[in-house]
Amino acid sequence: MTVIRGATTIPEDTPMEIKKAVKELLEQIESRNGLKRDEIVSLVFSSTSDIHSYYPAKAAREAGFESCSLFSAQEPDIDGGLPLCIRAMLFVGKNLDPKHVYLRGARILRKDLAGKINIAIDGPAGSGKSTVAKMLAHDYGILYLDTGAMYRACALKVLSEGADVEDEARIVDIMKDVKLDVVFEDGMQKTLLDGTDVSEEIRKPHVSMAASAVSKHPSVRMHMTEKQREIASRMSCVLDGRDIGTFVLPEADFKFYLTASPRVRARRRYDELVAKGYQVDFEELLADIVRRDEQDSTRALAPLKKADDAVEIDTSDMSVEEVLAAVKKIIQENL
Ligand code: DC
Repeated sequence: MTVIRGATTIPEDTPMEIKKAVKELLEQIESRNGLKRDEIVSLVFSSTSDIHSYYPAKAAREAGFESCSLFSAQEPDIDGGLPLCIRAMLFVGKNLDPKHVYLRGARILRKDLAGKINIAIDGPAGSGKSTVAKMLAHDYGILYLDTGAMYRACALKVLSEGADVEDEARIVDIMKDVKLDVVFEDGMQKTLLDGTDVSEEIRKPHVSMAASAVSKHPSVRMHMTEKQREIASRMSCVLDGRDIGTFVLPEADFKFYLTASPRVRARRRYDELVAKGYQVDFEELLADIVRRDEQDSTRALAPLKKADDAVEIDTSDMSVEEVLAAVKKIIQENL
């Protein structure tokens, strides 16, 4: 007796999508394991609680798997679980080396089988990229790397040294002696400058402007880019930034470019900062965002730009949940 596992996801909860996905999963399991249909003794399915429209076991029977016993059950609603997911377990009446099969979005469940996945999310300040990147990484159980935080930490150090953000040589000098660490706790990033956690301080508006200024220097960029590539080469992660899809990881598996109107973006930043207790002026924030866009998109090396093969999403009139769902749909349909 051999037990073979499999899982897949559906883009939406309809009988047609369930039938299609179950048929595809079972046929792939059969072909990858060289199975004959009558060798399958029993087929057990579970599906996430957001699937209501059809029993996977019924879909299997209709796909021609009728000589074995079939069973399907619903899984508990687990916070952060992969949505719209169908899992299968096949009991086979002979001994073989099982090839488990994970398709579509479910590939993310078995990164050991699917290989490393890098997802790039670029866009201007306030486009929603960091919120979406964080949630996506959490849902998929992979790392979130906030590359902006690295430029922010560099800017904070430069400011605290009283150095000029335009003075590239001096910045390089300062960065030589500083220990900039990105550490991960429960998949979340903490930014450490010489061992001190600066994750909060780097969010202040004057640091944002300085980060944009220091990030235009090629030597600063190359230093950060190397660190980012090294992390991405080791593990599956979602990276957000300005140049991930175009420069840091042109071979990323998925690329998204989020945009929104400057006013909407300024409003989001304003609400965020006010909620944290900062006193900020909306018009000033808006002017900063426009200046930062200009500075980030006109620098010579790796400017803010949509990669030709990135999917662009205008988030102006979308909720975070809607953006997240749109991004996941694309990933899960193309994995
Ligand atoms: O995403 P953010 O607002 O935290 O980024 C702060 C600044 O850092 C941004 O204005 C430009 C720079 N940056 C960059 O040049 N490249 C990146 N990949 C990320 C950020």
